[in-house]
Amino acid sequence: MRRVNRDQRTRINLTLNGRAVSADTEPRMLLSDFLRHALGATGTHVGCEHGVCGCCTVLIDGTAGRSCLTLAVQVEGRAVRTVESLASADGKLNALQQAFQNNHALQCGFCTPGILMSFTDYLAKNPKPSEAEICEVLSGHLCRCTGYAGIVAAIKEATGSK
Ligand code: FES
Ligand code: FES
Repeated sequence: MRRVNRDQRTRINLTLNGRAVSADTEPRMLLSDFLRHALGATGTHVGCEHGVCGCCTVLIDGTAGRSCLTLAVQVEGRAVRTVESLASADGKLNALQQAFQNNHALQCGFCTPGILMSFTDYLAKNPKPSEAEICEVLSGHLCRCTGYAGIVAAIKEATGSK
């Protein structure tokens, strides 16, 4: 049987938020931990580490995915986008973020990066979702604070949806 050296370090090269980056990691490291601890992208939050809460959601080659269910080695050569990519360089919030602020769609903010990244992917495919479609996407995210109404209102405002 092939023995795997769990402590062996591997260099990972990827594009993070449009910038080529690389760092060493163990083969077993999760992408969520790699982003936060090796690359300093702490906007990606870690809640359950079981694929349930959605707060670790990032875009991998443009598609939303749970970074706690992805190994860092799986993003070798790929493009990852995190919440840090949404605001412009001067700190101006994008339309979705601004709508969250306008509608009090966050309190502690722990769930917010994952929700923003899921909707960044979803709205690129369906820019004017119905309320039912918004709730369907939101069903993949747990928020302990808001009761969700503000989040739905924010996404409706950002998209001009009814
Ligand atoms: S931390 Fe990844 S889904 Fe909860
Ligand atoms: S704002 Fe606190 S968990 Fe969603």
